[in-house]
Amino acid sequence: MKKIVIASLACIAVIVLFSCEYKKEVAPVITPACDTSNVRYSVEIVNILSANCYSCHASSIANSSGGGNKLDNYTTLKPYASSGLLYNVVNHTPGYDFMPKNLPQISSCDIAKIRTWIRNGYLNN
Ligand code: HEC
Repeated sequence: MKKIVIASLACIAVIVLFSCEYKKEVAPVITPACDTSNVRYSVEIVNILSANCYSCHASSIANSSGGGNKLDNYTTLKPYASSGLLYNVVNHTPGYDFMPKNLPQISSCDIAKIRTWIRNGYLNN
């Protein structure tokens, strides 16, 4: 009788232990996916550029801050998108200026969104 009780307790202990281990391993797998299914100029692109680029590249600030490259409206941004310059500077393609200048590269998801917007024809949407 005593042996059965000990064996049962051991079983329960093992089950509890394993259920904890299981939870531990599952938790870090939850990483948000990068959603590039609906990238619009007026929402996703403006959000990325305003957070990372407008501080030097807005029309309202001195040309010296961003070398005169104005990226805060569609009309002035478009030539950078069509030439590939916009993508290459954020992608840190060798041979290009790396942007944001002297700051960490933007996230791979933000780069993917910019690439998608350009591939879809850099629409003013
Ligand atoms: C801290 C200021 C600063 C920030 C932030 C910044 N830039 Fe720049 N950017 C510059 C300067 C200054 C230049 C002029 C060229 C140089 O000095 O490298 C420039 C040049 C450029 C050019 C023209 C490159 C060429 O070869 O003619 C592009 C395109 C550009 N930046 C895009 C961006 C984008 C996109 C972001 C945001 C992801 C960004 N920049 C963030 C300062 C900045």
